Amino acid sequence: MESALHLHRAQTPLKDGGSDRNLWIERYRRIRSVSEKLCEPLALEDYVVQPESHVSPPKWHLGHTTWFFEHFLLGVHCPDYLPLNRVYDRVFNSYYESLGAPFPRERRGTLSRPTVEEVYSYRREVDTAVLEFLFCSAEPVLREALPVLELGLHHEQQHQELLLSDIKYIFWANPLRPAYRPVRNQAPLGTAHGKNTPNCEVTHFYRGGLIQVGAERELFSFDNEKPRHLTHVPPFVLSSLPVTNGEYMEFIEAGAYTNPLYWHSDGWKHSQGAGWTAPLYWELDCDGSWWTLSFEGMKRIDPNEPVVHVSFFEASAYAAWKSARLPTEFEWEHAASKLPAHGNFLESELFHPSPAGSHNGLLMGPNLANAQIDHPQQLFGDVWEWTQSAYLPYPGFRPLPGALGEYNGKFMCNQMVLRGGSCATPASHIRPSYRNFFQPETRWQFSGFRLADQTSKEEL
Ligand SMILES: [Fe+2]
Repeated sequence: MESALHLHRAQTPLKDGGSDRNLWIERYRRIRSVSEKLCEPLALEDYVVQPESHVSPPKWHLGHTTWFFEHFLLGVHCPDYLPLNRVYDRVFNSYYESLGAPFPRERRGTLSRPTVEEVYSYRREVDTAVLEFLFCSAEPVLREALPVLELGLHHEQQHQELLLSDIKYIFWANPLRPAYRPVRNQAPLGTAHGKNTPNCEVTHFYRGGLIQVGAERELFSFDNEKPRHLTHVPPFVLSSLPVTNGEYMEFIEAGAYTNPLYWHSDGWKHSQGAGWTAPLYWELDCDGSWWTLSFEGMKRIDPNEPVVHVSFFEASAYAAWKSARLPTEFEWEHAASKLPAHGNFLESELFHPSPAGSHNGLLMGPNLANAQIDHPQQLFGDVWEWTQSAYLPYPGFRPLPGALGEYNGKFMCNQMVLRGGSCATPASHIRPSYRNFFQPETRWQFSGFRLADQTSKEEL
C-alpha cells in the first residue's frame, strides 16, 4: 500500500492559470497530508522544543504553513472568511515585517499554547475553508487566487524539509538520542546499494559559452529564479559525484580543521570559535570509528555515502585542500539543465543520502542503473550542493508585490546558493533553476558539495 509520501511523487500535471478544481483539490490535500505524516512518529513533547534559535518546534511549522494559506489566500480572496484567532497573525508570522512584528523566532519554543491539538484543529479549520473555496468560488476569483495557492503549496513543501531538518536536530540535542523510527533492514556498510566505491576523481568537461539560466516561463518558479537570462560560463570541469564521507575523513585526518591555509577568514573564525572538528552529527567512537545521527538513531558512517551536514566554510576548505573549487551556481545549472530531476528525494523515505548508483535502481529502474553514465550523478537529491555563488538578484529581478515580496528578495545579502535538493526535499518541489540559500556557517540542512575546476589548455 502506498504511503502519503509516495502518492505525492505523481505530480499533478498543471498548467499556469489552469483551474481544474479537482486537480487543485487533490494536490492541496496530498501535499498538506505529507506534513502531518512526517510528524506521526513524534511524541507530544517533541512538537514543542526548540534547542537552538535556528530550529523551530514542529508545532510551529504546522501552524505557520497553515497561517500562510489563511493570511495570503483566504484573507485576500475570501471576503467572508473570519480568522480563527487574530493573535495567530503574530505567533505564526515568520518574517513578514510589513504585516507587523512577528513573534521572536528564538522564543518559539517558549509557547505552550496553542497546544498541539489546537494547532491540528487550526489546520482542519483552514483546510475546510480552503477546500470550500476551491469547490465553490467563482471561476475568475479562483483564477486570481491560483498563483498564491501554488506558492502556498511550494511553501508547505519547503517546510516539510525544514521539519525533517529540525526534528533531526531536536533529537541530536537530546543526550538520549531518541530514534525517529525503528531501524530498517540494513545491508553491511558500503554494500547497501552500490557495489563499487564511488570515485569522485572522475570529472566531466563542459565547453561553456553564453548560456541561458533561470526558470522556464511555463513552469512554477520562485521570484528569485527569474528572469531567465544569458550569462557567460567559461569552460570548466565538474566532479562526477558529490564528495563522500570516506573522502571527507581523509580531509579530517590530514589535519585540515587545524590548518588556516585552507579556510576563508570568516570560516576559520567560525570553525575555531565553534570547535568544529568534523561535520555536524559526527562522533568519534573510542575505537576510532566515526558515527553519525540518522532517523533510526546513531549509525556507523558509510564511507560511500555523500558527506552531509557541512557548511559552506567546510566545503570551501575541502576544495582548497584538494586544490580545486566549488562550482558556480551557473556551472551547476548548466550541467543539470538537460538531466531529469531524478534521485533520492523525500519520497524514498530514507531521509538520508545514499551511495552513488543506489537511486538509479531505486527510483529510475534497474535498466538505467546498469547503463553507461556519461554525465555527473546525484546532481538531484541526496544532498543540497553548496556553490561558490553569493545569493544575489538576477538582472531585472522583481520581488512579488506586497508582503510576499519579503519571501526571497530580502535575503540577498550574506548568503550562499545551494542547488539540487536533498533526501528531505519533495521531488515535485525541485527543478534545475531552483536556488536554495543559507548563511555560510549553516550545517543543519542536508548540505554537501561537489568539486569543480578550470580546464587545462589541453582540454580545450
Ligand atoms: Fe515559511
